[in-house]
Amino acid sequence: MMNLQAILDSIYGELQPRLGEGKVADYIPELAKVDPNQFGMAIATVDGKLYSVGEADTSFSIQSLSKVFMLTLALGKVGEGLWKRVGREPSGSSFNSIVQLEREEGIPRNPFINAGAIAVTDVVLAGHAPREAIGEFLRFVRYLADDETVTIDQKVAQSETQTGFKNIALANFMRAYRNLDHPVEHTLGVYFHQCALAMSCQQLAKAGLYLAARGSNPLTGHSVVSPKRARRINALMLTCGHYDGSGDFAYRVGLPGKSGVGGGILAVAPGLASIAVWSPGLNEVGNSQLGSAALEMLAARTGWSVFGD
Ligand code: DON
Repeated sequence: MMNLQAILDSIYGELQPRLGEGKVADYIPELAKVDPNQFGMAIATVDGKLYSVGEADTSFSIQSLSKVFMLTLALGKVGEGLWKRVGREPSGSSFNSIVQLEREEGIPRNPFINAGAIAVTDVVLAGHAPREAIGEFLRFVRYLADDETVTIDQKVAQSETQTGFKNIALANFMRAYRNLDHPVEHTLGVYFHQCALAMSCQQLAKAGLYLAARGSNPLTGHSVVSPKRARRINALMLTCGHYDGSGDFAYRVGLPGKSGVGGGILAVAPGLASIAVWSPGLNEVGNSQLGSAALEMLAARTGWSVFGD
């Protein structure tokens, strides 16, 4: 049996001199204030153990990691009908790009680029007031993590509401193509709040464990989705979870993963573990620089990969 704690400790030790690498996201002003010299990592295993290192207990802005949980919620509501609203192909462009949306008549390429995630949120909003949908999402993530202390950072939500001009453009564009059922401010109100959830690596590793364990979380005892659905969410994370960095992430790490501009990455080793890592400095495509490096080291040292051993 390998010693996961020793592996985490060695990764942390080796990355220590590199703390601060990359560039903290500054297009959301509140995120620009985060100290870049931070790093945390946690692993939740399917046999019910939790390992962590560094600032694994510090909450950070989960941003696009929320798209995995919102996708899970939307699939639970409308099932495969979701795919009328959003595609399942990698986009090969940045997370907030608008170029494909016109050519493809308002249907976003996948549920993880911003346009696709906004469409997914619009599906979850159906039949609710925005504040109810936000409440439902928060309750769902608390249930996944089995932790009532998960909260929304209102300052981050506010900050993005005031500056999210590209998202406003994407949402209006989809509305024009009738792929948004609610007023733009309503759907984006929910979207900005879901992105502003504050969670630690420990909470995220625990919350994501259902994806590694055939849809049920062995730590919390909660059954979340069917094994087939968990497999398919993992497939989307592998192909689209890092935007135009997805191919490189699959090559270097070999596990389904989802990044966020807060510097978090959630990765899944199916049948084995869920892994959360956080370090705020981003690479040129908006994914955590040290987070990606740490996952590459973890995959190499454990042999974990969806492509064979
Ligand atoms: O909509 C946005 O731009 C942010 N709330 C989330 C983007 C994000 O996290 C992209 N991930 N790397």
